[in-house]
Amino acid sequence: MKKLNTRIIKKHKLKSKGHSLSMLTCYDYQTAQMFDETDLDLILVGDSVGNVVLGYETTIKVSLDEMIMFSSAVKRGAPNKFVVADLPFGTYSSLEEGITSSKKLFQASECEAVKLEGAFPYQLELIKRLVQIGIPVMGHIGLTPQSVHEMGGYYMHGKDQKKANSLLKSAKDLESAGAFAVVLECVTAPLSELITNELSIPTIGIGSGDKTDGQVLVINDLLKMGKHTPPNFCKPVADLYSLRKGLVEHYLNNFKKMEADENHLYN
Ligand code: KIV
Repeated sequence: MKKLNTRIIKKHKLKSKGHSLSMLTCYDYQTAQMFDETDLDLILVGDSVGNVVLGYETTIKVSLDEMIMFSSAVKRGAPNKFVVADLPFGTYSSLEEGITSSKKLFQASECEAVKLEGAFPYQLELIKRLVQIGIPVMGHIGLTPQSVHEMGGYYMHGKDQKKANSLLKSAKDLESAGAFAVVLECVTAPLSELITNELSIPTIGIGSGDKTDGQVLVINDLLKMGKHTPPNFCKPVADLYSLRKGLVEHYLNNFKKMEADENHLYN
């Protein structure tokens, strides 16, 4: 299996008609090992680790050290995959801070790329500089969870024409700045399709319809590993929460039975 690099990913659009890029999140060594043995195209160590692994209310609490720890574990487990690590909130608030944080994350985790949310002018400049340094960057627009309080919640983006124009411009700006791909999160399906047609780099959608060049999902949602129902754009393929709970309960029942038998034997 040929390991992907940013050139292959960029060319994906032109070369492999009909093959959608697959990306799943991953946060631990053992799951990464399993992914490494599959055809999955890209792994994302998302800052969603804050929600699904660490139990934070939002992704805002996730620190750079946490991202380094989780990304390093994933990269150790998936040496043959193209792994993207999220830059967490507050670690790229300025150009210089963004360069320092990206270098630290990229070098310590040994991941292949970093991802950042937004397309403000200083972020575009940051992407240019990172690409010059040799750090590939994936963009992320639409619903950007690190700005949830500024945006006023989690909702679909690009519904009105002004917002749609602005998102299209952001996507084009990210491409011009040197991003090798862009995540479209909760962007309306028609706008996602338009952006996908207008860009020469791949778009990777989540909750954004099926006309993007690729799709990304949170693995914990796909396998329903958590107690709560996943977002409605994700149709889980299993219910690992119930399955694992059932297995633990089964073990505990046997354990208690064995304990009772032993007590009976010694009394
Ligand atoms: O953190 C994450 O998991 C993400 C995806 C939802 C795209 O950014």
